[in-house]
Amino acid sequence: MKTAELRSKFLQFFESKNHQIVSSSSLVPPQDDKTLLFTNAGMNQFKDVFLGFDKRPYNRATTAQKCVRAGGKHNDLENVGYTARHHTFFEMLGNFSFGDYFKRDALLFAWEFLTSPQWLNLPKEKLLATVYAEDDEAYDIWLNEIGLPPEKIIRIGDNKGSRYASDNFWQMGDTGPCGPCSEIFYDHGEDIWGGPPGSAEEDGDRFIEIWNCVFMQYNRDENGTMNKLPRPSVDTGMGLERVSAVLQHVHSNYEIDLFVNLLQAVARVVGVPYTQQMPSLKVIADHIRSCTFLIVDGVLPSNEGRGYVLRRIIRRAVRHGYKLGCKQAFFHLLVADLAKEMGEAYPQLIEKQAQISEILQQEESRFAQTLETGMALLENALQKDAECLSGEVIFKLYDTYGFPYDLTADIARERNISLDEEGFEREMAAQRARARAAQNFKANTQLSYEGKDTEFHGYTVRQSESTVLALYKDGEAVQQLSAGESGAVVIDFTPFYAESGGQVGDVGYIFINSKDYFK
Ligand code: SER
Repeated sequence: MKTAELRSKFLQFFESKNHQIVSSSSLVPPQDDKTLLFTNAGMNQFKDVFLGFDKRPYNRATTAQKCVRAGGKHNDLENVGYTARHHTFFEMLGNFSFGDYFKRDALLFAWEFLTSPQWLNLPKEKLLATVYAEDDEAYDIWLNEIGLPPEKIIRIGDNKGSRYASDNFWQMGDTGPCGPCSEIFYDHGEDIWGGPPGSAEEDGDRFIEIWNCVFMQYNRDENGTMNKLPRPSVDTGMGLERVSAVLQHVHSNYEIDLFVNLLQAVARVVGVPYTQQMPSLKVIADHIRSCTFLIVDGVLPSNEGRGYVLRRIIRRAVRHGYKLGCKQAFFHLLVADLAKEMGEAYPQLIEKQAQISEILQQEESRFAQTLETGMALLENALQKDAECLSGEVIFKLYDTYGFPYDLTADIARERNISLDEEGFEREMAAQRARARAAQNFKANTQLSYEGKDTEFHGYTVRQSESTVLALYKDGEAVQQLSAGESGAVVIDFTPFYAESGGQVGDVGYIFINSKDYFK
C-alpha cells in the first residue's frame, strides 16, 4: 500500500466511526501557546478542547497532522540520517475523543484498523502492546476483549527517573494535558536485532512502536501537580512513515515509496548515484520536507527562535550536499520534487512552490559565501585538535562563517571528535556582554511615523518602483535629505526585508529618477 493510500484509509476508517476529518493545523503553534516551538503531535490543535477551555461542534475527530520535532522538547535533529526512523518532519495519523469514548473503544478501534482484512490486515501475531504499569483497565482490555496473549502485553512503569516519567505516560510539554498510554509495537522479525519494549535490547530495530494511544486524564501545571481533566479523553498518534514501512515490507522509513522517490531526486540534483547507504542523501531528503513545510507555514530563516531552527536545518542539508561534492545551490530544486510527491495531500506546496524555492535559494547562496572558507578553517582545526574541537573555533565558525553549533557537531561526529561545548558557551556569553555594551551607545531610533504601512514584496521581486512617503534625519521628520546626509526613508512598496527580531535587514540602493542613488 502506498503512503498516500494509507493516509486516506486511516481518515476513512475513522470517518466510518463517526469522527470528523479535521485538516492538519499549522506547524507554528498559536501565538498564545508559549509551551511549544513547533507542532509536534496531532493533539496540539486540540489542547484547549482537552483542557475544557474550547468546544467544537464534534466530540470525535481524526487528522493527518504535519509535525516537526527539531529544536524543542522532542528534538530528533541530530539523529536524522543515521537511523531508520528519525525525522525532523513527519506525519502523524490520529483519532481523538473529547470526553466521548475512552480506553476500550480507543484500543478496539486501533486493533480493528490494524488487523481487519478490510483495512490494514496486519498479522495479529506480529503485534504486541505496552500499558502503563498501573493501568489495569487497559491491560484487561488487551487481554480479555482483544485477546492478546499475556506475554505480549507489557507493563512499563516510571522508567525515566521520576513519578509519571515513563515511556507509557505521555505529555505534550512540561505543562498541559497528559495521561497514561498504551503503545502498539510491530515485530519486524528475528533476523533484525532488538528486544521487546522494557527489555535491555529495546533500542534495537526489531520491535517498532507504530501507534501510541494516550488516555488524557490530567492537566499538569507549573508546579508539577496533576489536575484531573473535566472529561477523560483520547489522543492517539500513528507515525505514517513507519506504518507505511510495515505495509511495504521494508525495514527503514527511507525505503518507502515517498522517500525512495525523494532520495532519487536528491541523488539527481546533487549528482551522485541513488543508494540507501549514504546518510547524507537521507539527511537532505528529510530536511527538504521540514524546511518546505515550515516555510509554507510562514517561518523564515533567521537568527533566532523558529527561524533559527529552520536556518540550522537548511545549512545542515547544504553541508551534506557539499560533502557529496555538490558545490552549487541544489536544495531549492527539490521543492518541485516534493510538491510532486505530497502536493495532492497538501496543495499549498504547489501553490507556493516558486516562493519557497526562492527563499531556500537565497539562504543557500548566503551560506555558500562562507561555507567553503569555514570548512577550510574547520578541517585545519580538526587536524590540530585531534580529540576535541576548541570553543574558540566553534565560536568563530558560528560567528564569522554562519556554522550553527549543531552543524559543527555533525561534522565532528563523523570524525569521532568531541566538542568543547563549555568553551563555546563562554565565548557566546562574552559576545553577549559586548553586544550589551554596544547597545548602550546606540541612539534611540524610534520614529514618529504614523502613515500607511510599507508593503513588502521581497519574495517575488528584487526591485520595485516606489513613492517616498516620509523622510527623517536624526529621528526628526524632514522635507528633504541633501547629498551626503544619512536618514530614514519610508516608502510605499519595498523588496527589502527589514531588520526584525535578530534578522539582518537587506541592503540595497534606491535610485531617484533612475540616476542618483543612495544606499
Ligand atoms: N500525543 C501522542 C504522541 O505524540 C499520541 O498522539 O505520541
